[in-house]
Amino acid sequence: MAVSAINLQPYAMLSDDECDARIVAAKEKLGERLVILGHHYQREEVFKHSDFVGDSLKLSRMAAQSNAEYIVFCGVHFMAEVADILTSPQQVSILPDLAAGCSMADMANLAKVELAWKELSEVLDDVEASVTPVTYINSAADLKAFCGRHGGIVCTSTNARNVLEWSFTQGEKILFFPDQHLGRNTAYTMGIPLEEMVVWDFDLPMGGLTAEEIKNAKMILWKGFCSVHQMFKPEQIDNFKARYPETKIISHPESSFEVCQKSDYVGSTEYIINTIAAAEAGTRWLVGTELNLVNRLHEQFKDEGKNVHFMSPTVCMCSTMFRINPQHLAWTLENLVEGNVVNQIKVEKTEAEQAILALERMFEVSP
Ligand code: 13P
Ligand code: SF4
Repeated sequence: MAVSAINLQPYAMLSDDECDARIVAAKEKLGERLVILGHHYQREEVFKHSDFVGDSLKLSRMAAQSNAEYIVFCGVHFMAEVADILTSPQQVSILPDLAAGCSMADMANLAKVELAWKELSEVLDDVEASVTPVTYINSAADLKAFCGRHGGIVCTSTNARNVLEWSFTQGEKILFFPDQHLGRNTAYTMGIPLEEMVVWDFDLPMGGLTAEEIKNAKMILWKGFCSVHQMFKPEQIDNFKARYPETKIISHPESSFEVCQKSDYVGSTEYIINTIAAAEAGTRWLVGTELNLVNRLHEQFKDEGKNVHFMSPTVCMCSTMFRINPQHLAWTLENLVEGNVVNQIKVEKTEAEQAILALERMFEVSP
């Protein structure tokens, strides 16, 4: 029988070590009823308690395959939403701190995407037949539902190319949101020239574009970006290479076009980890992705003689991901032990049904 939820406030006074012990004890009590999924950007104090870790695609598959009653997502809001969409109604998806959003995901909302769709339909003969909407998984569930009902699809940084290839079999153009960089970087590697890509400024009528520009474009890129990855600059690569010319550059595709063009490797967080793991001892790496992951790579591979460096001279952390701390995790789990579900993420039924169409199309084309 559930009692009233345990108050969060006293947990703020607990040290990380105290939380640690309590998290371990709560996990033991919950056993197989619980699974903790952790994204690679999580701080170490939280990451170490994860049952499974991965990038967005891997974690969404983990969620879909899990039979656990409680899925506690140590990540950001859209990830917990995807977990809810892909699991059965009896399973509960939980985000330990509801303030852990994704600032990039917030750059697109349904009202603005609906408006863009309407404006595109004023310029194009048959918007449904000619444009495939593609949403990066870093987006709210209602945008995934939008893609579901308009013949569109979801992508992650792992499968973006497969998704774009599929999308171009559906229509001649793609409306890609919210991250312009992932869209541009992926399309460019597929041979689409920059002249055939336009940026849709969601604050301007008709995206700030002329009818001609829209008609000529293959990729219509939403003007969104990640505040973390936008901090990486091509000059940082040049400066580092001037000191260590042998360095291999590896970046996440949310980084700018210029950074990705100067990179030897571009891919998801999982890809970055696997690439450095497979590299030879003595290699040096400059990595353009979030700081917690780069610090972990540095620690993990230093004994193998691999040198892993962070691309930016300033701190670039995903501050929203960082909100998931041991205190919130301990509070969440101890509530579950007492039979209280706190911070459940629930996607409305119709929205989930439409979103799943776009997610299933993604899984079908994913590597
Ligand atoms: P990955 O899917 O590559 O882990 O990326 C998620 C993300 O939010 C990167 O900023
Ligand atoms: Fe969102 Fe950027 Fe954080 Fe990834 S790193 S979750 S895109 S804000």
